Amino acid sequence: EDCSLEVCSLFTVSDSCFRGEAEDASGSSLKSQVEAAEVFSDAEVIQGLVPDERDLIKGSLIDWSDHQACQLILTTGGTGFAPRDVTPEATKAVIEKEASSLSCVMLMESLKVTPLAALSRSVCGIRGRTLIVNLPGSKKGAQECLSFLLPVISHAVDLLQ
Ligand code: MTE
Repeated sequence: EDCSLEVCSLFTVSDSCFRGEAEDASGSSLKSQVEAAEVFSDAEVIQGLVPDERDLIKGSLIDWSDHQACQLILTTGGTGFAPRDVTPEATKAVIEKEASSLSCVMLMESLKVTPLAALSRSVCGIRGRTLIVNLPGSKKGAQECLSFLLPVISHAVDLLQ
């Protein structure tokens, strides 16, 4: 069934990718995963890349939710315990409602795969009509977490419109 998702933005949050020192493997694999998902078949997928800077992440999230009419923003990276991991804090600063059950689903399912799932501080929430979801930075972690949300995410997007 068609979902009201028209534009999905994928943000890679990574200093090393931003500096060109690492390949944005998670961003490209997420793009393929969203494009392959039947529920999102008509959605346009747009990719972005920001360094691990709280204000730049915040600015991108605000821009994409308020000005670019994007119904879903998936970030990948910066959710862990490293000093520069600030994606959850930037997300908390821009959302109006927290959707902690989505983070809970990712955690519960991810713990069945790896105990290291406990090291992601992923935040999910709503700004206006946009759903923002933090995914972990590794290609494997990002892919797994998105797959755990796929059964509910199109309904979530529909409810926001
Ligand atoms: N979740 C799943 N499903 N699979 C994974 O491999 N990796 C974990 C975790 N979540 C992982 C996962 C690891 S090793 C870390 S350090 C945290 O996500 C945070 O990653 P980030 O700082 O790159 O966002």
